Amino acid sequence: MKRILSGMQPTSHLHLGNYLGALKNWVKLQDEGAECLYMVADLHAVTVTHDPEQMAQATREIAAAFIAGGVNPYNSALFVQSAVPGHSQLMWLLSTMAQMGKLERMTQFKDKAGKDSERAGLGLFAYPVLMAADILLYKATHVPVGEDQKQHLELSREIASTFNTRYKTEHFPPPEPYIMGTATRVMSLKDGNQKMSKSAESDLSRINLTDDADTIAKKIRKAKTDADPLPDNVKALEGRTEALNLVTIYAALADKSREKVLKQFAGKGFGDFKPALADLAVSKLAPITGRMNELMADPAEIDRILAKGSERARTVSAPVLQETMDIMGFWKSG
Ligand code: ADP
Ligand code: TRP
Repeated sequence: MKRILSGMQPTSHLHLGNYLGALKNWVKLQDEGAECLYMVADLHAVTVTHDPEQMAQATREIAAAFIAGGVNPYNSALFVQSAVPGHSQLMWLLSTMAQMGKLERMTQFKDKAGKDSERAGLGLFAYPVLMAADILLYKATHVPVGEDQKQHLELSREIASTFNTRYKTEHFPPPEPYIMGTATRVMSLKDGNQKMSKSAESDLSRINLTDDADTIAKKIRKAKTDADPLPDNVKALEGRTEALNLVTIYAALADKSREKVLKQFAGKGFGDFKPALADLAVSKLAPITGRMNELMADPAEIDRILAKGSERARTVSAPVLQETMDIMGFWKSG
């Protein structure tokens, strides 16, 4: 039986990369009937400077985006990481099995720590161990994420395997990354070599799920491209990273292959392609934005959903944490 777990941080608005690279797959797995747990990863969000006044609201907003994007909270458990104490507890246990050398090699740590890694917080360094705890606390078998999280998942697998070897058990199943679709890595609209990201400075580099139709059209119009017409095959786009990115986004939004999209637009320039992409993006994203706004108008309902989901997450995870502690030999009252 598949058990799915994934999460996103309530750091800022979700963008098209989060939607096409991850959220769309969350919904697909849910609709295929798997048992799904989707979480707002607020404990991860405090590894970088955050605004305490904004965090609860950002948590509701990201939950609204999950639901608007297709997560059914009556079917999947939609919960808040910090509302399930087991995440932090298991993280401590697993931290005894995570090698510092491996953590040092994590590209996200290197990126976020910047030049002065000596001053980086322990939380930022241990971020992937918390992520392993998130997954293993539910014995999740599949984890739908974008490409950039693959390295963290690899580490989760290693931690699971170290635990199993050290305690001679098969307690933790190795979690499989679930990275699929055409847009596992959506790139910035301003630089085809950078991933589209919440943290990029220019808002023109990303399409947010909260952008209105005019903003989406404007951002696509201003997206960096080149002067050549589109070819009729993907191979010919090699080296044209910005062009490839826009074609990839079109294909993912239309649920078509990139080859099919290129057959349709071969010989056309961006003067034709960009308006078509803008129309498609607006038609796909406007219903999500509309639904998000409706949900945000009733924060008490979102709170009820999150409270219920968190309760369910606590129920599912409690026996796994207890069993983990038993295997490690901790005292418990008779
Ligand atoms: P960001 O990198 O923008 O801060 P997160 O780290 O919160 O976003 O990522 C949430 C999810 O979205 C993860 O599964 C991640 O792999 C996916 N994701 C983020 N950016 C992209 C992107 N540009 N393309 C595809 N998937 C992405
Ligand atoms: N680290 C992930 C990201 O930045 C978010 C996350 C936290 C996550 N815990 C997780 C994703 C567990 C999958 C499973 O995108």
